[in-house]
Amino acid sequence: MTTTLITGANKGLGFETARRLVAAGHTVYVGSRDAGRGRRAAEKLGARMVLIDVTDDASVAAAAKTIEADGGLDVLVNNAGIEGRTQEGAVIGAADLTAGMMRTIFETNVFGIVRVTHAFLPLLRRSAAPVIVNLSSGLGSMARVTAEGTPTYAYPGVAYPASKVAVNMLTVQYAKAFPGMRINAVEPGYTATDLNGNTGTQTVEEGAEIIVRMARVSPDGPTGGYFDAAGTLPW
Ligand SMILES: NC(=O)c1ccc[n+]([C@@H]2O[C@H](COP(=O)([O-])OP(=O)(O)OC[C@H]3O[C@@H](n4cnc5c(N)ncnc54)[C@H](OP(=O)(O)O)[C@@H]3O)[C@@H](O)[C@H]2O)c1
Repeated sequence: MTTTLITGANKGLGFETARRLVAAGHTVYVGSRDAGRGRRAAEKLGARMVLIDVTDDASVAAAAKTIEADGGLDVLVNNAGIEGRTQEGAVIGAADLTAGMMRTIFETNVFGIVRVTHAFLPLLRRSAAPVIVNLSSGLGSMARVTAEGTPTYAYPGVAYPASKVAVNMLTVQYAKAFPGMRINAVEPGYTATDLNGNTGTQTVEEGAEIIVRMARVSPDGPTGGYFDAAGTLPW
């Protein structure tokens, strides 16, 4: 059984993924940027809690030190993410997007993954079967975003899809650099969580399916891929 860290696991897809991995007998760290929210989630799940804000170098370094001291890590699920909406809850379209908004979204969704992956690489390298799962989105598929007549084409946001394209590229390049690890990007599907004001059409149980599958991928499983529950996605 493996030891897994899921960033942003105090709610939503991360929480459900943690629940399923705990149920399967894995040791799971619920990563949370808020101690109270994280503790409550971990208690509900029978999981461990680690404080981790993916935008903060010191917080990420401290989390890596704690998990290293506790025995190390096999599976990293880079799940923490934000969509970035206006105060009224609207998606930020091209006309309103500023560099500052773009930076905020990339700080969590992209630089967060780089920061956490870099900090945990020494631990993962010591694992017999290291795995990284990066939370992408169908909105990170250039093929889908340009497929006229689809809901993905109609999505007006700019920063969030751009951040997930970057997540896909990180996945491919990390996978090539670390052939001994299984590193994949996943699209959970449009899932009702706080990220989208609970407008998603899937349940978290459905959304977590591919995350759990890729977190449990075997050493001879795929790497450098982009998957949803139905199979491979076009880049
Ligand atoms: N829901 C969908 O339809 C959908 C579709 C495709 C991809 N995804 C991706 O799935 C992942 C999970 O999203 P979700 O839908 O489960 O959203 P969610 O319910 O809003 O959960 C997001 C989690 O990320 C955490 N987080 C945000 N910023 C963080 C930071 N700086 N440091 C640490 N944790 C942070 C949040 O913590 P707080 O509680 O402290 O805010 C929360 O635990 C995201 O990467 C998202 O892009 C979601």
